[in-house]
Amino acid sequence: MKPEPSSTYLLKAIDAFKRKLFVISTDYRIMAVNAGGLKNESQNLPGSKCHELYCSRMEPCAGCPATDVLKTGGPAIWEGQADDFPQDDRGSCLYAYPIFSQDQVEAVAVLDFDLPILAGLEEKLKRSNAFLRNLMLSSVDGVIAADLKGKILIFNEAASEISGYSVEKALGSLNIRDVYPGDGARNVMKKLRSEEFGGKGKLKSLQVDFLRKSGEVIPISLNAAIVYEKGAEVATIGFFHDLREKIQMKKKLEQTRVQLLQAEKMSSLGKLAAGVAHQLNNPLGGITLFTKLVMEEHQLEEPVLEDLRRILKDAQRCRDTVKELLEFARQTRQEMRLHDINQAITRTLFLLENQTLFHNIAIEKQLYKDLPHVPGDIQQLNHLFMNIILNAAQAMEGQGKLTVKTSFSPKENQVRIEISDTGPGIPDDVMPHIFDPFFTTKEEGEGTGLGLSMAYGIVQNHGGTIRAESKPGEGTTFVVDLSLTPKKENLNE
Ligand SMILES: Nc1ncnc2c1ncn2[C@@H]1O[C@H](COP(=O)(O)OP(=O)(O)O)[C@@H](O)[C@H]1O
Ligand SMILES: [Mg+2]
Repeated sequence: MKPEPSSTYLLKAIDAFKRKLFVISTDYRIMAVNAGGLKNESQNLPGSKCHELYCSRMEPCAGCPATDVLKTGGPAIWEGQADDFPQDDRGSCLYAYPIFSQDQVEAVAVLDFDLPILAGLEEKLKRSNAFLRNLMLSSVDGVIAADLKGKILIFNEAASEISGYSVEKALGSLNIRDVYPGDGARNVMKKLRSEEFGGKGKLKSLQVDFLRKSGEVIPISLNAAIVYEKGAEVATIGFFHDLREKIQMKKKLEQTRVQLLQAEKMSSLGKLAAGVAHQLNNPLGGITLFTKLVMEEHQLEEPVLEDLRRILKDAQRCRDTVKELLEFARQTRQEMRLHDINQAITRTLFLLENQTLFHNIAIEKQLYKDLPHVPGDIQQLNHLFMNIILNAAQAMEGQGKLTVKTSFSPKENQVRIEISDTGPGIPDDVMPHIFDPFFTTKEEGEGTGLGLSMAYGIVQNHGGTIRAESKPGEGTTFVVDLSLTPKKENLNE
């Protein structure tokens, strides 16, 4: 068989090409069409204008790539709207390129498909998809997307950290309902669908509970949206921001604020108290002196003497209070040295044990062996323990058990002193006030209300903390923590 010329194969190949390919003249008349471009075998296309034939239009179509080719002399892509083509011809005339005769465009070849361009577009799409994916996955907030059944579609590393589930596990078997405690997921969906939380289909910075794998429930700030496709819900996406640190910081800030307030109150009252104490000291000295003179220099009858003794006694009590006030407001330099707290406590107990108040109180010492020495002013520390122990004995009304325990925490690098009694405890409404200066629940003349505010000031001076734990009816424990390395700014040196 005689081989056919190569141009015949070329024509056959173009016909075999499953896409539409046709050639038009510079006035849009069809010069040749391959088999893919024929609507039926009998069609006689050559000679007709392409826009009339394919698109039933009198004029060339808007966005026609052939028009571009004729203008620019280079290949062009169709840039019209999908609706410019009749329904069954959508995608026709996607790409056109010039056929030259010498330097002139003689004809234009039009294709309904362009492979290299499509590949380029696909590549672009892939890259932008990858970029978006990367963005989500590297978000510092947890990103979780789920379909309407709750199956997880996207779950980034941050979501894994917040939830405790691995990314694989989440994508494999987790349901979005599992990350909310109780009915949480339904509530979130309800809010998402309502208008009130950032518009329909959106949630803005809503604080919700989040259930971790460990069972722990943590606070989360949630931004979420429903993903719609052609008006129908297809998925949800949520951005989860862990609020634990923020809440912790807020709490600390509040604590510091309260402490500052307390310190401020103490310092202004302290100054006031010092002034008043000095003013009272002289007249009190006068009262005592002249009462004694009257008693010594006159022959007085017993009832009168009794009254004068009463005056002396009360004046003495006033002087004691003033002394305490002055001590409380003392602003002299403190002497910081290393001290053995066990020894300080033993000494204080030794002094107190012989007082009648302590006769029926059992004292138990649980002193930590080899307790490291604490930097402090020994006078102040003695005062501190004395006040707490006296309060305990007074609360027990001289009967019960007093336990003094010391311990050392190497991790915190601090020494803890716990002083417990078996007294009536501190009622909840009294507790917030016990460190306030002049706050007392004791009978007039029995309490000054200065003991604990002084204790508070002393512990602060040492860069430590003091608190009371009490359940009414079960006694009270005062816990003092003293640091071995107090921060410089805390020390009132
Ligand atoms: N161990 C304790 N048990 C019960 N209440 C206590 C105890 N220690 C202190 N309190 C309460 O704290 C108040 C303030 O104590 P404090 O400042 O020492 O003043 P005062 O002892 O002069 O009343 C006391 O009046 C008492 O109500
Ligand atoms: Mg007291």
